[in-house]
Amino acid sequence: MGRTASPIVLGIESSCDETGAGLVRDGRLLGHAIASSMDEHARYSGVVPEIAARAHVHSVRPVIQRVNQAGLALSDIGAVAVTTGPGLPGALQFGLAGAKGIAYALGVPLYGVHHLAGHVAADTLEHGPLPDPSMVLIVSGGHTSLILVRDLARDPITHLGDTLDDAAGECFDKVARVFGLSYPGGPAIDRAARTGDTRAVPLPRPLPGSYDFSFSGLKTAAARWAEGHVGRELPVAGGAASLQEAIADVLTRKAVAACVEHGAGTLVVVGAVAANSRVQSLAEERCRAAGITLRVPPLRLCTDNGAMIAAVGDLLVHAGAEPAPLDVSINTSAPLEYAALHPVATITRAVAV
Ligand code: KG4
Ligand code: ZN
Repeated sequence: MGRTASPIVLGIESSCDETGAGLVRDGRLLGHAIASSMDEHARYSGVVPEIAARAHVHSVRPVIQRVNQAGLALSDIGAVAVTTGPGLPGALQFGLAGAKGIAYALGVPLYGVHHLAGHVAADTLEHGPLPDPSMVLIVSGGHTSLILVRDLARDPITHLGDTLDDAAGECFDKVARVFGLSYPGGPAIDRAARTGDTRAVPLPRPLPGSYDFSFSGLKTAAARWAEGHVGRELPVAGGAASLQEAIADVLTRKAVAACVEHGAGTLVVVGAVAANSRVQSLAEERCRAAGITLRVPPLRLCTDNGAMIAAVGDLLVHAGAEPAPLDVSINTSAPLEYAALHPVATITRAVAV
């Protein structure tokens, strides 16, 4: 007798400015569509929550329609996974409402997924299952975390370090603004840094000896340096190269040290800042020297997308995880403890405290 086919999981992501949908079965990506309101935020140099929420209202339906270029019937979807946190409240609500509607209409299970677990799972769509244990560096516009992952669908996630203030991407964005570069700042700094000297500006390497991160002092130091050039032309390339080197140095030094200390043979770097050319080249260099395998998903899976949420849903289905109740709600500041965001876990903890 043949094995029953695994369900196709529809993943929906709407926690920030991207509306994403993805279809995954058995760890394989079947379809992927995205709409971004990034351009509408550019003139404010940051994501405006109300604009993001309104854009999701318009994008959810077309994105879900576009994801189905594979020509599947809606009834082929066997489970729905959706980001329930963390993220912007209005933005999360629209994705969750859409996901609930589809799950309810199709009579299929719904899974509430932690956004950052999605970033981790994105890599499995390109490189296969994660070795146990894997060290994961999550670096995006809103998050910077160094975590130890075992079985992503079943085991608790161990946080070794988190940012105490700004996220790495936020630091790129804010300094880029002071340097007069375009938004989002990360790619602009990356481009400007190509012709710059990484030693042009002496910048600090905050929190040595800890796996936590702090980018606020670095941001201020870069801003002070720029302010010192008022009335003169700012040598942007040198400033950009120095900032990028400082961020890449801090991120990769800590990540590789954590791998060595915890016996992880694989480092996975995920989130949009993983696209940074110097973060990648320094990670490659240091991983090679330490005998560690480096995995970085392709850019289309590094930025926020629905496929990564479907990937977590697929892992949860295979692990036999309990689906979320249909009255599941969002958690805008959910800590990353498990890949699935179970309201039950929150209640248990609240009682225990
Ligand atoms: O994934 P994303 O769209 O949103 C979050 O999940 O936060 O990430 C966007 C962030 C922005 O801060 C952007 O400046 C940064 O990722 N970023 C980069 C690069 N590409 C995007 N930072 C540094 N270098 C890059 N090449
Ligand atoms: Zn993200």
